[in-house]
Amino acid sequence: MQNIPAAVAETVAFLQKHAIDRPPVVGVVLGSGLGMLAKKMEVIHSFPYNAIPHFAEATVEFHKGHLVYGTIAGTHAIVMQGRFHYYEGYSMQQITFPIRVMKALGVQQLFLSNAAGGINPAYKKGDLVLIEDHLNFLPDNPLRGVNNAAAGQRFVDMAAPYNQLLNSQLKAKAGALKMNLQQGVYAAVMGPNLETRAEYRWLRNTGADMVGMSTVPEVIVANQISLPCAAISVITDECNPDNLQPVNIAEIIEVAGKADEKLSELLVAMIKRQTGRYKT
Ligand code: HPA
Repeated sequence: MQNIPAAVAETVAFLQKHAIDRPPVVGVVLGSGLGMLAKKMEVIHSFPYNAIPHFAEATVEFHKGHLVYGTIAGTHAIVMQGRFHYYEGYSMQQITFPIRVMKALGVQQLFLSNAAGGINPAYKKGDLVLIEDHLNFLPDNPLRGVNNAAAGQRFVDMAAPYNQLLNSQLKAKAGALKMNLQQGVYAAVMGPNLETRAEYRWLRNTGADMVGMSTVPEVIVANQISLPCAAISVITDECNPDNLQPVNIAEIIEVAGKADEKLSELLVAMIKRQTGRYKT
């Protein structure tokens, strides 16, 4: 057994007892309005978050809040349908707990997705953008507090938080599918309100290409526990400070839903290439 915190070990034991009899190779976190990949799975078991020991319960109504275990293109996978956000009131430790569970279950690669506002003027609604780096403006950090040595070391290196091999494979897959996959820097903010024009202008000046309210805490923890990860943003609104249109969350979810097909196609293609290597 790896050196893991006791709560993680308890959750893993519960999941293994209740269906997870083969280690998932791939872990996926699906962002707001991005549930289609879970529909393309051969589901073995779907756990509501509130039935899993030590998991927080998803509160935002459009999040399904299920941990889905099954196969994707023949590869065993575990998919978070809906994630926990800091703006919902969870602690950073609660938000990132499932990442530690995935790693302890055997996951070797993590794919994250999110809905984000496009700051780079080249981005249009519905575009997919590979996150190549990030800016963390969240007011808290999952590694803050008494350092639990079982959880990993505290001063995590962030020179390349998004795995370069996974990124180049994703770009190659997108190319083969004739899908436009841009690349950019993701800025994480607390939310839940969207930004003012002055804030979008400022974000652009800091080097952000897109902005959202998630993903970075999970990526920090994935790096702490040496879990290679890659992340994709779906651009749901265009944040041009000189011509800012009001958006509402229903519209954001609707745009995410339309791009969801492309995203799930790309992830299935990416996960499929693992089959030969890891299928047991
Ligand atoms: N800002 C922050 N988060 C977001 C946005 C945005 O414009 N769009 C989708 N998530």
